[in-house]
Amino acid sequence: MTRLPDFRLETYFSRWEFTARHHLTASDAQTMTLTGLLALADDQDRAAFENLSLGYTETYGDPALREAIAQSYERANAADVICFAGAEEALYLAMNVLLDAGDHAVVVTPNYQAAETVPLALCEVTGVALDPDRDWALDLDQIKAAIRPNTRVVSVNFPNNPTGKIIDAADLAGLARLCDEQGIHLFSDEVYRGLERDPARTLPQAADLSERALCEELAARGQHARPAAADTPVGLLLEKPVERPDDAITVVDLTGVGALGAAVASAVLRELTR
Ligand SMILES: Cc1ncc(COP(=O)(O)O)c(C=O)c1O
Repeated sequence: MTRLPDFRLETYFSRWEFTARHHLTASDAQTMTLTGLLALADDQDRAAFENLSLGYTETYGDPALREAIAQSYERANAADVICFAGAEEALYLAMNVLLDAGDHAVVVTPNYQAAETVPLALCEVTGVALDPDRDWALDLDQIKAAIRPNTRVVSVNFPNNPTGKIIDAADLAGLARLCDEQGIHLFSDEVYRGLERDPARTLPQAADLSERALCEELAARGQHARPAAADTPVGLLLEKPVERPDDAITVVDLTGVGALGAAVASAVLRELTR
């Protein structure tokens, strides 16, 4: 198994997250208590929670959750969705399915560390930097120039951690088109989608733009609209474009989302899409 370098953010958190008086570096939103969440529930949701049996869900995720997630896409159905116990896990497994030694990935920087170190542990990676002098603009020509014949993945994250940058929808569409033309998987980390101060800037989900794109998101997004279970620990991924289904099944079999996480995420998603 590939050894990964220290996850420096987590090393830093292990020292300071629960000891500093004021935590100004959180990458999650303020969360709510289970009581607060249940106060939002209707009778159906409350009954579902009260009768919930805590245990494993189905391998690819709770069917109701997968369905609710698929509903939030224009071109997805439940079979395209896999649930994980966190976005980090989805990212790790997706990169391991998509990339082999001898492949190449393009990763936009700056980024959440794992976006870079996970592919780097597997193959060669070229970083393409957002431009700090142009409001962290993404230059599609630089992405184009970085692409090699063996490039299999272009990995982006908007709204971006750490800059907060949201590119224009036209640029995301251009990127999806470029990846399609080159037969590349666009891996789009959308865990902060829904946090935009101006909802008009919310980008389309990449998987609605390209058959080959994979989206990673948290099921309880949209926190700006409702202070829901902000960081419900459910990452997910659209499986449809993965070309090595046997690998996908093998790695996914190792993981699972617990019943409580699935129930919370289903309820929050239903609430958000009502
Ligand atoms: C951009 C980005 N992607 C993925 C993750 C990982 O999310 P999770 O905590 O659900 O594993 C984070 C966490 O901060 C993040 O900022």
